[in-house]
Amino acid sequence: MKKILLINGPNLNRLGKREPHIYGSVTLADVEKDLTEFAKTLNAELDCFQSNHEGAIIDAIHEAEGEYDGIVMNPAAFTHYSYAIRDAIAGIEVPVVEIHISNIHTREEFRHTSVIAPVTIGQIVGLGIYGYKLALQAMLEHLGGKAK
Ligand code: DQA
Repeated sequence: MKKILLINGPNLNRLGKREPHIYGSVTLADVEKDLTEFAKTLNAELDCFQSNHEGAIIDAIHEAEGEYDGIVMNPAAFTHYSYAIRDAIAGIEVPVVEIHISNIHTREEFRHTSVIAPVTIGQIVGLGIYGYKLALQAMLEHLGGKAK
């Protein structure tokens, strides 16, 4: 069975309350619960992690090596400027799919750039929370038979 780690970055703990016109009204707890159930139907196991702290996310990325087959990650605002998270991903063998709930390309200019994207296998953008399911499917498709 493939083991996947879901990482959500800063402010995503406030999903459902935070700018619902952009991010919708579903909570992170609901997203995590639904995705965990969805993972089971795909014969995968999902663990969920959220942090508002860059260092904690970096630690989680390091600790994923040897533990997980893949990481699905919404780096939130760190997407746009965290070279430290980018370097952490570049320094592990575990593949990462990046997901954003909103379409970062139609929003403020500073959101158009992802410093994370070049070290991921791909990006899912702008499809709402459904993007988490697409990201998980894309990761499992990428892993094929390579899971531990
Ligand atoms: C986000 C987009 C980021 O620009 C923003 O800082 C977030 C959420 C998204 O999922 O649309 O916190 O990653």
